[in-house]
Amino acid sequence: MATRRIGILTGGGDCPGLNAVIRAVTKHAGGSYGWTVVGIEDGFQGLYLRRWRELAQDEVRGLLVRGGTILGSTNRANPFHYPVKLPDGREVVRDVSDVCLRHLDELELEALVAVGGDGTLQMAEKLGQRGARIVGVPKTIDNDLSATDYTFGFQTAVEIATEAIDRLHTTAESHDRVMICEVMGRTAGWIAMAAGLAGGADVILVPEIPYQLERVIEAVATRSRRGISFSIICVAEGARPVGGELAVEHAGDATRQARLGGAAQRLAAALEHRIEHEVRVTVLGHVQRGGTPTAFDRLLGTRYGVAAVDLVAAGRFGHMVALRGNRLEAVPLSEATGQLKLVDPAGELCATARATGVELGAPAGA
Ligand code: F6P
Repeated sequence: MATRRIGILTGGGDCPGLNAVIRAVTKHAGGSYGWTVVGIEDGFQGLYLRRWRELAQDEVRGLLVRGGTILGSTNRANPFHYPVKLPDGREVVRDVSDVCLRHLDELELEALVAVGGDGTLQMAEKLGQRGARIVGVPKTIDNDLSATDYTFGFQTAVEIATEAIDRLHTTAESHDRVMICEVMGRTAGWIAMAAGLAGGADVILVPEIPYQLERVIEAVATRSRRGISFSIICVAEGARPVGGELAVEHAGDATRQARLGGAAQRLAAALEHRIEHEVRVTVLGHVQRGGTPTAFDRLLGTRYGVAAVDLVAAGRFGHMVALRGNRLEAVPLSEATGQLKLVDPAGELCATARATGVELGAPAGA
């Protein structure tokens, strides 16, 4: 009898912990079930372009500490809106899902483990509706998938952002400055909220709460009146003032999301001349996504990888592994995607921030 095979791909923006999932899937599928693992390169792009390889047990040794993904990833490979280059150099958008489904058949996989955020998992779910056997694993530093308490990658990003805020404190104090630290989070402000609270930021601005500039100015002024000559502002890239637009660096199109950027610069420009301090901006950007995952993310990635293989073995296709409390559960992909988990302006985290004197840019209940 031919050896059974499962496939794995990583899609969307990378994040720390992806390699822990790949390692766990390869070890458990090979060691416990005797299956061969096929790694598909660069997300659904590799499935379309026939770029895949067998993952040997040896190849995953030592992967726990490595950031990124050995399979590569892209956030421009939606099989339903795929950018195709024509011979004359023009780029057109095509639906290449039929080709992807054909390649999946050709690979004769038990199932494909798709590791990704909301975008990748939505694509996986749509391929599943057309017959593909898929199991999902939730990944994103943004922690904005509604069906799981935590995605891996988030904790590492929060650690990095918290350390940056810690470091900004000492230099802010030395120079009597207002330091603005911009973190990722286009729609959901989890990183800003978690790192801002853990790092003791004085102002935290998230996409879910459009901010009133006057409140930010007053927060800085209040500290000055109390004799504290510096302030730290943690702002999510997706934060915007009341009535203001999102700060966009490059507009998106059918094949790629808009690139955000400038939220901190814009706030700095608005603050300058309104406060007595100098203002400086630090944009953490992709530093938050790179490097070694924390122990939490390695562990979560490993648990997700093992659970995903067990879901395949149980024939529970069309499901995603999820962490609820401290238990791993399987949730239908259809319920896991489409609706992002956002910071609740009336929730406990925001209440905790306000209770400890953090300015969120709007009054409670606004
Ligand atoms: O979704 C993860 C994320 O890191 C967002 O927080 C951020 O807006 C986006 O990806 C950046 O994407 P890119 O790597 O394409 O610049």
